[in-house]
Amino acid sequence: MTKTTFTPRVFSGIQPSGGLTLGNYLGAIKRFVDMQGPDFETIYCMVDLHAISTWQDPTDLAHNTRELCAGFIAAGIDPEKSILINQSQVPEHAQLGWIFNCVARMGWMQRMTQFKDKAGKNAQNVSLGLFGYPALMAADILVYHATHVPVGEDQKQHLELTRDIAAKFNHDYKVDFFPMTEPVIEGAATRVMSLRDGSKKMSKSDPSDASRINMTDDADTIAKKIRKAKTDPDALPSEADGLKDRPEARNLVNIYAALSDSSVDQVLAEVGGKQFGAFKPMLAELAVAKLSPISGEMARLMAEPDEIDRILSKGSLRAREITAPILRKTYDIVGMVGPV
Ligand code: AMP
Ligand code: TRP
Repeated sequence: MTKTTFTPRVFSGIQPSGGLTLGNYLGAIKRFVDMQGPDFETIYCMVDLHAISTWQDPTDLAHNTRELCAGFIAAGIDPEKSILINQSQVPEHAQLGWIFNCVARMGWMQRMTQFKDKAGKNAQNVSLGLFGYPALMAADILVYHATHVPVGEDQKQHLELTRDIAAKFNHDYKVDFFPMTEPVIEGAATRVMSLRDGSKKMSKSDPSDASRINMTDDADTIAKKIRKAKTDPDALPSEADGLKDRPEARNLVNIYAALSDSSVDQVLAEVGGKQFGAFKPMLAELAVAKLSPISGEMARLMAEPDEIDRILSKGSLRAREITAPILRKTYDIVGMVGPV
């Protein structure tokens, strides 16, 4: 079989299940912005169908979807250069998701650590959607034949499953139809940790607001959270090796490096030897300088929700020009009789 070549295409998504955090920004959105340009077609998605795998109040879901869209645009995603959509407006995601429910195996899904973490001891009581979540995620990506997916470290296992689903589909139907998507997990902040506990991921669902920086926090709140962030009593090292076994110190240095577009080594060359009492104000100043313009622009965009809705419906029309033919071809491969 001759190998198909696929158009270089980027897809990624974020759940509109709460506010955006610094983890989402550094691990995902900032990198979505970097990937816009002549090398790739870029499609970015608010995954509202995924969000309802855990309960979402309808009013909050609509608000969070628009706010996430505002966050994307405020951070530098240009709706002319990239396709911006909410998942439910492009029905082919859910349609391909069903096909993939029939490709993925129970055993594969049972191994997903995100499911195990989210279900906890409550596994009998969570939704079926939470269990099937990664098959829909594979459909999000493969319904575009996307070749590259920028995400944070926590999504790595889901992207491996996406490749397994593509490979099994191609194998079972003897086709070379779905690409082997590449995860793009790069940069200094692929896993931003909680400010209160360096062993836990910074997350919008952490009960402690002090554990995270929200994209909507004002300058004083950002500075206060950084000042109160957990650290250790030692000075900063001059080399990355010295951050081993110092998770909180490493986290703050990673955040500084990602916000300033430099490497951990470059940051330590500058701040090595300083105490946290001196480093934290530098970090707070940098964070405020980078994040305030974004939160200001988000607030401005949120004052015109109709404009956001127009961007999303226009995006979905562009998206469907890609997804409808790929879904139709998938149905043909599977043997679904189509319209004449
Ligand atoms: P979620 O908020 O779970 O929908 O995540 C959306 C994107 O943000 C995914 O690409 C995640 O990997 C990324 N992300 C979420 N939290 C973090 C974090 N603490 N550090 C780095 N990336 C993150
Ligand atoms: N599972 C991702 C998260 O929670 C969100 C997501 C859904 C996604 N579909 C995707 C990310 C497709 C990348 C590509 O972070």
